Amino acid sequence: MDQKLSTNQLIAIAQQFGTPTYVYHAEKIQQQYQQLTSAFANQNVVFFYACKALTNVNILKIVHKMGCNVDCSSINEVKLALYAGFEPKRILYTSNGIAFSEIIEAQQLGVNINIDSLSNLEKFAQEYKATYPVGIRLRPNIMAGGNLKISTGHEKSKFGIPVEQIEDVLNIVESTGLIINNLHIHTGSEIKDVDVFVKGIEVLFDIIPLFQHLEVIDLGGGFKVPYKEGDGATDIALLAQKVGEAFANHPYHRPLQVWFEPGKYLVSEAGYLLAEVNVLKKTKATTFANINTGFNHLIRPMFYDAYHKITNISNLSGTVSNYSIVGNICETDTFAWERSMNEIREADVLVFANAGAYGFEMSSNFNSRFKPAEVLVMNNEAQLIRKRDAFDDLLRNQIEVL
Ligand code: LLP
Repeated sequence: MDQKLSTNQLIAIAQQFGTPTYVYHAEKIQQQYQQLTSAFANQNVVFFYACKALTNVNILKIVHKMGCNVDCSSINEVKLALYAGFEPKRILYTSNGIAFSEIIEAQQLGVNINIDSLSNLEKFAQEYKATYPVGIRLRPNIMAGGNLKISTGHEKSKFGIPVEQIEDVLNIVESTGLIINNLHIHTGSEIKDVDVFVKGIEVLFDIIPLFQHLEVIDLGGGFKVPYKEGDGATDIALLAQKVGEAFANHPYHRPLQVWFEPGKYLVSEAGYLLAEVNVLKKTKATTFANINTGFNHLIRPMFYDAYHKITNISNLSGTVSNYSIVGNICETDTFAWERSMNEIREADVLVFANAGAYGFEMSSNFNSRFKPAEVLVMNNEAQLIRKRDAFDDLLRNQIEVL
C-alpha cells in the first residue's frame, strides 16, 4: 500500500505547528528505498541518496538507518553526512567545479570522491599518485532530463569531463600512477526513459577497458517520480532488467558494482508543503488565492515551470472552480494559473504535494521572510525537526558598523 499522510494528519499538523510548514513522511522514504533495493535484489547495485534534495539531519539519519549510502555535492553536505553518522566509505562526494582545497578536505575525511575536471584531476594525481583511488565524472554527451535546466549530460553542459577528453585522463593516469576506480555519469533529473541509462552504460563500455583498476560504474540519479495525475515515472523494474542485461551481455563484463544516486525518487513524494490562504482577490482575468508562502519557500514552479499538485484540505467537498495560486512576496510568484480547485476561502489550508525534494533545500529569506518549519511524521507521530526562523535569524550574521 502506498504510504501517504491523511488529510486529517496534515490539518492537525497545520494547527499544531502553524504554516508555512514542510512535512516529511519517514515511512514513504523507506518504502521508496525498498522499491529500489527489491528491484535490484539480484544485482551488485548500491544506492547513494543525493542529499542535495533534502539535508535535514533527521532525514539523513533515516537514510542511514535504512542502509542507504549518501551522495554529496558540497563539503558541507559531506560534513552533515558524517555528523548524521555515515561512515566515510558510505559517503560519496560528486564534486563539480569546486576549489581543489575542498577535494583535499574530502580526501582527509576519507570519503569517496568523483572528480569532474581535468584540472582538479591533474592536481589530485600530482598530490596523491596511487595512494587514494578516485572516480571521475564524465560528460557522456547525452541529452536527457525533464527540462534543459535539469539536463546535465549534454554537449553544452558544464558538468563532468567530456568523454572525448578521455585521452587526457589516461595521460594523467600514466604519468602519475593515479588509480581510477569509478566512472560516473549523471545525465539529468526526471529521466523517465530507462534507455537513457542504457545509453549511458554503452558510452561507458567503450571506456571501461581503458581503466584497469575500475570497481564501480556510477550512473548518477535522475529517476522520475509522478508529479501530476497520470504522470509517468521511471519504471524501476524495467530499469533493473535492462541494466542487468546490459552488463550480462557485455564482453567487458567484470564484477563491477553499479551505483545510483537517487534524490527525488527517495524524498519527493514523502514531502508536503502546508500553506494558508491570506487573501482572495477576484479579478476579470482570474481569482487569485494569495497564500502565506512564495518562491522564497518553493521555487520549483517559477524556476522550472514545475507542476505541483495543490489540494485545499480545508474544503475537500467544496464546489470546484478555477483559482490562480500565488504567493505573498513582491515578485510574480505564480504556483498555478487557473487551477481547478475545491472552493477556496481565506484561512483555508492548501497542501503542495512532491515537496520533499528541492523544496526547503532551495528556500531563502527573500523579502526578509522566515524560512518555514519542518516536521517529521514517523510511526504516525509528528515532531518538529526545524524551527521556523525567528526575527533574530534575519540579523544573525549581520555586522552593524553604523
Ligand atoms: N547525482 C548528481 C551528480 C546530481 O547532480 C543530482 C542532481 C542527483 C544525483 C540527483 O538527481 P535526482 O535523482 O534528484 O533527480 N533542483 C532540480 C533538480 C536538480 C538536480 C541536480 N542534481 C529540481 O528541483 O527539479
